[in-house]
Amino acid sequence: MPRGFFITFEGLDGSGKSTQLRLLARSLQERGRTVTTTRQPGGTEIGDRIRALLLHSITQNVVPLAEMALMFADRAQSIQQIIIPALAEGQIVLCDRFTDSTEAYQGGGRGLGSERVLAMHHSVCGDLWPDLTLLMLPDLDASLARARRRNLRQQTHGADENRFEAEERAFYERVFSAYREIATRDHLRVVTIEDNTSVEAIEQRILAIVTDRLTQLRT
Ligand code: TMP
Repeated sequence: MPRGFFITFEGLDGSGKSTQLRLLARSLQERGRTVTTTRQPGGTEIGDRIRALLLHSITQNVVPLAEMALMFADRAQSIQQIIIPALAEGQIVLCDRFTDSTEAYQGGGRGLGSERVLAMHHSVCGDLWPDLTLLMLPDLDASLARARRRNLRQQTHGADENRFEAEERAFYERVFSAYREIATRDHLRVVTIEDNTSVEAIEQRILAIVTDRLTQLRT
């Protein structure tokens, strides 16, 4: 049985990562691989409830440490229920966000700092890290404009996930630079994609990167 492979997608809201995750899942499945896709927060029953609590704009006055702890509560559940079982079966796991999001948003955006986030990662997730992280980092303004348009659409369909998108630009600048620091520090694991080109061009680039890493695994 081939060893499982754990890939995460990271980036700002509206960076296009969820679209690319879906496209990659489809390409890998067409090539005969078994793929599990999930997202954080969410993906499990408890995780979906944590997601609703954390993202709904009705939720107010969450202190940053509580926000971080809830993100890790969700992650603990996702790891035990979804990620570890799928990897143990030799599957490719594609996860929309993981601990890099907590380091960027709570560590950078909320100002908790990386050290606290990484310490909590160690207690909750042990040494589980993705084999590969695709960090989508197009222009900040383009991402924010896209995220806001998407949320306006979602509002008209009744789903409110606006709490983070309501943050001011300075918050997202901190998130953006925290992501850059993570990419520099973990440059073997994290591949940054800064393209503002077409969805199809980025899809091809991601597929080439992933195929290359999977081939290296076999050699
Ligand atoms: P998304 O699923 O649409 O990407 O939205 C999830 C939101 O939650 C997004 O604004 C980023 C935020 N988030 C954190 O702040 N910390 C985390 O650890 C995770 C996983 C997400």
